[in-house]
Amino acid sequence: MDALLGIDLGTTGVKSALFNAEDGQTITSAFFEYPLYHPQPGWAEQNPEEWWRATLAAIRACLEAAALHGIMPAGVRGVGLSGQMHGVVLLDERSMVLRPCIIWADQRSEAQCRWMTERVGAGTLIDYVSNPALPGFSAPKALWVRDNEPEIFARARTLLLPKDYIRFLLTGVKAMEISDAAGTCLLDVRRGQWSREVLDAIGFDPALLPPVVPADTICGTITAEVAQLTGLIEGTPVAGGGADNACGAVGNGVVRSGLALVSIGTSGVVLAHTGSPQVDRSGPVPRVHTFNHAVPHAWYLMGVTQGAGLSLRWVRDNIGLPEMAIERWAAVDAYITLSMEAEHVPPGSDGLLFLPYLQGERTPHLDAYARGGWIGLTASHNRRHLVRSVLEGVAFSLKDCFAIIQEQGLALEQVRATGGGAKSPLWRQIIADVLGVELVTTNASEGPAFGAALLAGVASGVYSSVQEACDATVRVVEHTGPQPQHAAVYARMYDQYRALYPALRPIFSHPL
Ligand code: XUL
Repeated sequence: MDALLGIDLGTTGVKSALFNAEDGQTITSAFFEYPLYHPQPGWAEQNPEEWWRATLAAIRACLEAAALHGIMPAGVRGVGLSGQMHGVVLLDERSMVLRPCIIWADQRSEAQCRWMTERVGAGTLIDYVSNPALPGFSAPKALWVRDNEPEIFARARTLLLPKDYIRFLLTGVKAMEISDAAGTCLLDVRRGQWSREVLDAIGFDPALLPPVVPADTICGTITAEVAQLTGLIEGTPVAGGGADNACGAVGNGVVRSGLALVSIGTSGVVLAHTGSPQVDRSGPVPRVHTFNHAVPHAWYLMGVTQGAGLSLRWVRDNIGLPEMAIERWAAVDAYITLSMEAEHVPPGSDGLLFLPYLQGERTPHLDAYARGGWIGLTASHNRRHLVRSVLEGVAFSLKDCFAIIQEQGLALEQVRATGGGAKSPLWRQIIADVLGVELVTTNASEGPAFGAALLAGVASGVYSSVQEACDATVRVVEHTGPQPQHAAVYARMYDQYRALYPALRPIFSHPL
């Protein structure tokens, strides 16, 4: 049997999953967590060495389990990489990591965004790279290192994104895959090349940037050393792969116009496939991103809420689980337990509202200083209300993203739900109710790792195109329709939710 290996370097951990190339069925999968560090409010860093150790362990675990099914490493036709976007990994001349990775969620580079926007010109920047400078993106993070740790920046010879760093360790090839390169704010997204104009305007040395490579072609092979460490066969092809959101889209078949994706991972995302690099021109600054898809000659529009699963994880870690769940900790998925608790609370959480801005916010506010919180708390609320209001607050912030995408005039025929949060039937229902659309789920239960594996299948010749790969393997399995009886309460709550950010903004921008 031909198999394809997908690796997704997420924010909470790395997943390695092996799929049957013929029908896309999961053979085995392994997940290893690593820490996320918040050295200061609004900062978010990870240690690339911890990624690497977890990745090796995940690949090994996956192959060992596959052997029990009679699948041997020689059957692995290709490896595909997916990963969290925007993180900056700086390497020195010996290709050693210079400092912890400043990851996508980090909000420290507001000043660098302002500087970059002034240097290039706000409108010109959008013309060149199709996106504004945001603290979430890579270039401002690299400029923060330049401004605050000049001795480190002076030693930097290469900038890689998280999954492209893993590619380098797996294959020895330094490359930046196109759908991920789109999130640097340095790529001419229309042409798929580094923007000479932006690099010149901000004095950024182009030599720091590796070549841009396609998502669906081979761009390296497993080295002898990695073969020893993992059990993979030396020379196994490694495809370009894609940004986690692009791979999530591929794995759910969102590879054609008319299809959209709602993803609830650490971040929450609404993504719509487009056949051209459309830019949100409805306000002074585009509030949704325009990025290259992992499908050749295709793009997507994407709204991002910074704290989706992150908010629920915060509740799990800081407010806690019911005692019975703690006792059964190993056997119970904490998120499922929390959302089961929330089922005891009526829609609208008895008037309790949650703002999910625990890491600032991107769509729609583009505000690194936005902060989270509960509003409307009374003595009659309990932990269950706190949990349900988090699920609802994230759904409201996804509605903010969805509304802007709808304003772009795309004819959306189907919205597919994915990510860890979409495994909760309650959260799916709340999102369907709040967005007022049907959500469908597919058989892609392994998330972006599946999309990455499909890209490896195209690169290694198993499929002739990304669309063909999806047609062969992706099926809709479940429908969650909006419940009209909840529409009125959610419409009222959403109006209140929308009023909160403008009211609180003066406090956010002058914190204690
Ligand atoms: C997208 C973004 C996040 C990360 C999460 O712009 O920053 O969705 O990709 O992994």
